[in-house]
Amino acid sequence: MEGTNEKGPLDARMQCLLERRQTNSTLRNLTLPKAGQIDFSSNDFLSLSTNTQLKGVYLAELQTSQLPLGSGGSRLLDGNSPYAESLECDIAAFHGAEAGLLWNSGFDANAGFFSCVPQPGDVIVFDELVHASVHDGMRLSRAAQTVPFEHNSVADLRRVLSEVAQLPSRCNVFIAVESIYSMDGDVAPLRQIVDTVAETLGEGRGYIVVDEAHSTGVLGFEGRGLVCELGLEKQIFARLHTFGKALAGNGAILLGSNTLRHYLINYARPLIYTTFLSYPSLALIRSSYQLLRAGGTVPLQLHLHHLTEFLFKAMQQLHVTSAAARSLLSIPSACPQSPIFAVQLQRPRNLARYLQERGMMVRAVVSPTVPLGTERVRICLHAGNTVDEVETLVGALQEWSEEDTIGEKKQGPERMKAQL
Ligand SMILES: Cc1ncc(COP(=O)(O)O)c(C=O)c1O
Repeated sequence: MEGTNEKGPLDARMQCLLERRQTNSTLRNLTLPKAGQIDFSSNDFLSLSTNTQLKGVYLAELQTSQLPLGSGGSRLLDGNSPYAESLECDIAAFHGAEAGLLWNSGFDANAGFFSCVPQPGDVIVFDELVHASVHDGMRLSRAAQTVPFEHNSVADLRRVLSEVAQLPSRCNVFIAVESIYSMDGDVAPLRQIVDTVAETLGEGRGYIVVDEAHSTGVLGFEGRGLVCELGLEKQIFARLHTFGKALAGNGAILLGSNTLRHYLINYARPLIYTTFLSYPSLALIRSSYQLLRAGGTVPLQLHLHHLTEFLFKAMQQLHVTSAAARSLLSIPSACPQSPIFAVQLQRPRNLARYLQERGMMVRAVVSPTVPLGTERVRICLHAGNTVDEVETLVGALQEWSEEDTIGEKKQGPERMKAQL
């Protein structure tokens, strides 16, 4: 068997696990985007990946900077450059932070931070819906305990922190939250979180870490994110901004103090043992920040918020006018701040297929990506979407809920809950 391509017991085991997923309807497959579909799915929130202004700035940046292509190595060896260092300083200044450290991805940044910054005996308290990359970092961490709190519940955070405050050792306590949660689209009550941490732990023990992956470019003046929108720069220990979503690039930056930056350079393995971002990637990051700083994305941001409000109101209307939809949809009373809508229902793949067949790209999100029982269709709006497109979406949702109710009457109607 050794050295041949013959199928052995490992292959049989992997096949069996894949079949189990197929049976549970949780099998993942790569899919190719269908040309011409309306994008209600990607994280390209500002539609910058096809923005001609950004393309122009980027091409000019490539021309004028005369950069090589590859970075040539790890940041600690040959991969570093004045270009990367000045980019870090500029981005940190834009977000009102002392320092910044670039990473190849947001995943690496979270995994790197949480695996090495909490010290032996420390505690990490995290929102139960934080990204998988935080979990991977925590798995490698030397923290004595990792404790979840109920998603976006300040009361539960207070309960957990009050228990941690009673621990005999005066350990550091890290609190991991996201500004916008990627699968639910809701925004963290950050001001209350900051107050709760101060009230329960007192001065100098609580270290709040905010993942701004989904709010970069979307929230705050010129897209600076939630922390800047709330003026909480001084209260937050570290912030993660990623470039792969609204900024149409890839990579990420962790913002914090100079000491934190230097510590990560010394201890974060996903930073030390990897080839650094290529120069075209850095040039794209610089170009998108140029656009942000020049106010070029503000109209896009405004249009996105307008569409969000429009979809919210249209869904409320849908709730009012269709008896069938009224029995299936549960619409919240306040307009969401983020462009991500989660329509929770038992068989999200049926609705996703229905919308895809009508030319709209949406995706079903199932367990284990989201907790069992909270399967949903994730609808994401973009600056490039039009009001007409959103109307088409709402019309299709209404038709589906009516058809589905009729079709499913014998089995009981599909339960659909829009969570905003
Ligand atoms: C909340 C959150 N944090 C971090 C990441 C990872 O960022 P990246 O895509 O740059 O690896 C993601 C990406 O899906 C995310 O949604």
